[in-house]
Amino acid sequence: MLSESSAAVVTATLPAVQAHGEAITGRFYQRMFDAHPELLNLFNRGNQATGQQQAALAAAVAAYAAHLTGGSTVPWGPILDRIAHKHASLGITATQYPIVGRHLLAAVGEVLGDAVTPEVAAAWDEVYWLLACELIAREARLYAVAGVAKDGAVWRDWRVTGRVRETAEVVSLILVPADGGAAPGFTPGQYTSVAVDLDGDRGQQIRQYSLSGRPGADQWRITVKRVRGTGGAPDGLVSGFLHDRVAVGDVLRLSPPFGEVSAVAGDGPLVLVSAGIGLTPAMAALEHLAATEPQRPVVLVHADRAGAAHALRDALPRLQENLPRLRLDLWYEDAAGGELAGLKAQVSTGRVDPELIPLSPDAHVHLCGPLPFMNAVRGGLLRRGVPVDRIAYEVFGPGMLRDGR
Ligand SMILES: Cc1cc2nc3c(=O)[nH]c(=O)nc-3n(C[C@H](O)[C@H](O)[C@H](O)COP(=O)(O)OP(=O)(O)OC[C@H]3O[C@@H](n4cnc5c(N)ncnc54)[C@H](O)[C@@H]3O)c2cc1C
Ligand code: HEM
Repeated sequence: MLSESSAAVVTATLPAVQAHGEAITGRFYQRMFDAHPELLNLFNRGNQATGQQQAALAAAVAAYAAHLTGGSTVPWGPILDRIAHKHASLGITATQYPIVGRHLLAAVGEVLGDAVTPEVAAAWDEVYWLLACELIAREARLYAVAGVAKDGAVWRDWRVTGRVRETAEVVSLILVPADGGAAPGFTPGQYTSVAVDLDGDRGQQIRQYSLSGRPGADQWRITVKRVRGTGGAPDGLVSGFLHDRVAVGDVLRLSPPFGEVSAVAGDGPLVLVSAGIGLTPAMAALEHLAATEPQRPVVLVHADRAGAAHALRDALPRLQENLPRLRLDLWYEDAAGGELAGLKAQVSTGRVDPELIPLSPDAHVHLCGPLPFMNAVRGGLLRRGVPVDRIAYEVFGPGMLRDGR
């Protein structure tokens, strides 16, 4: 709980902090990286350059302040869970919180100037530490559950034992622990963080990849789309590295599985809706159900540019055999090559129409794909009466959907 005096100050200054949120977080990162250049290896440079991380941090702090002062109806738990899982997958430690807090509060002072009296600074310090303590506690629990011996010691060497070119832009890597130990189990929908050392003096970069294979198998699979820069922006650093530089026999550093979003929630009908590379959690879900709940009714609605761009499509006929109640609805923008021998699917041309997604009243839905796609599908499903808490979704970047739920 925020103290009464701080609550009044935070309520009064929240609009100014919100209005300048991204300026504050932009300044915060500059200050923090100047003082701690080693942290550059922890943060995603692409997200820094596009401003997505600044926006996510600013939105989180402002939403938490609104939550503490009663000015928000957005459920806070899922936001905290998302951040804590992401942090745990990066090996964030409690000892790093004072660094972030110091530079974040100094940045508030720099951007808002004289408006930040000692009283205002103290109130926002209280907000920061309430939030930090909630995150530190959740992260400690996640480390304990994942069997991480010491906070933040998440990295383990994994050997690449296979490389499968799925499409022109997508490659799968098969990985086993290099120490000969067992591959940890995971819930479909969970991801691993992958740390790579870039060439030359470009340092380390970390990215998350959803586990796309069967949980419980003795190996992991990640399926990576090459990200091309558009409009003069550079090509993706880590996806390019995994495509061009990683061969069978190489070793990569991976975190344990983390991620709060299950792609197999509930025990009744399941509807998996994916677009492009967003199919990776859905594929883990199908592999899992084929092995554990073959009679579960499942619909996979998948959107892609064309049949040839649809990664892991070759696995669908086998999954259909093992999951007799699996229905496949595929949407290709370009209809050419949409059919695949042995695949029983409804193939449509164009973009997914949420009105046409087969739904039963008690279905749980899982969405994964670009944000505009998920906003459109989720909006359509909510209009069709699917309760908000039955629609889970995964964002392949920082942040959440429009209403944060
Ligand atoms: C939970 C989760 C699960 C994920 N699962 C998968 C998965 O299963 N498969 C998968 O392929 N991906 C997945 N991702 C996405 C993945 O983590 C990476 O974000 C993706 O591979 C791109 O990383 P990159 O290093 O190649 O690109 P980055 O280098 O991070 O670049 C990202 C974007 O930023 C732009 N950019 C970079 N620098 C600049 C600049 N200076 N100016 C302007 N623009 C710039 C780039 O052009 C590019 O469009 C997942 C992400 C999350 C969060
Ligand atoms: C109260 C304090 C903090 C808040 C509110 C916060 C908030 C956030 C949010 C909202 C995200 C994006 C999550 C998503 O993917 O949606 C994030 C990611 C991240 N946080 Fe924190 N964070 C805090 C403390 C820290 C600390 C102490 C560190 C360690 C230096 C840290 C390092 C990171 C990193 C490296 C990422 C991933 C960045 C990226 O991939 O672009 N955070 N944090």
